[in-house]
Amino acid sequence: MDTQTALLTRTSHGALTEPAPSAGALNQAFQAALRAPDHRMLRPWRYLVIEGQARQRLGEYFLQAGLADNPQLADVEQQRLLKMPLRAPMIIVAITTFKEDAKVPFVEQTLSTGAAVQNLLLALHAQGFASMWRTGWVVEHTLIKHALSLQAHEQIAGFVYVGTAATPSKNPTLLNVTDFVQTWQG
Ligand SMILES: Cc1cc2nc3c(=O)[nH]c(=O)nc-3n(C[C@H](O)[C@H](O)[C@H](O)COP(=O)(O)O)c2cc1C
Repeated sequence: MDTQTALLTRTSHGALTEPAPSAGALNQAFQAALRAPDHRMLRPWRYLVIEGQARQRLGEYFLQAGLADNPQLADVEQQRLLKMPLRAPMIIVAITTFKEDAKVPFVEQTLSTGAAVQNLLLALHAQGFASMWRTGWVVEHTLIKHALSLQAHEQIAGFVYVGTAATPSKNPTLLNVTDFVQTWQG
């Protein structure tokens, strides 16, 4: 798939099934992520790959976090949290590892992580896999950060759900460029 086609046809898929990317395909996707623009080459990112039984354990932590916030959580909501990580055969947790640097503020490191995640999504798509970038309250929850062994200087940029599209991809609606782009003439 050529670059322009990959850029214009990538869509998010909530319904994801087996197969997950092979080790080779995953390596290609991470190589693409590691080529994100990165001011002063701080490498302010790292990733966790969660598959198989570990997804169930993540679901148990989602449930614990939900119950910690609301011990009266309805049973249906408890079941939803427990099963959330089972929505895909693989989850990649993208983490910004903020580095102290006189010239690179944290916001630039967050932007670099965003660019890295987009590279990851595109590389997966170009190899025939599908994904969805998700966040929500779980990314900020202390219990989840602790379960994933995040350090104080780290932040979860997203849970990227990865697999094979369970339903055909929709053609994304292309927006009008002119609605978003102006020429500045001083
Ligand atoms: C940082 C970030 C966090 C997101 N978190 C969620 C989320 O928690 N739940 C969700 O449904 N979509 C979330 N999205 C949006 C989807 O990943 C997706 O981009 C959106 O549904 C548009 O679909 P498309 O990628 O096919 O254009 C998030 C996107 C970004 C960039």
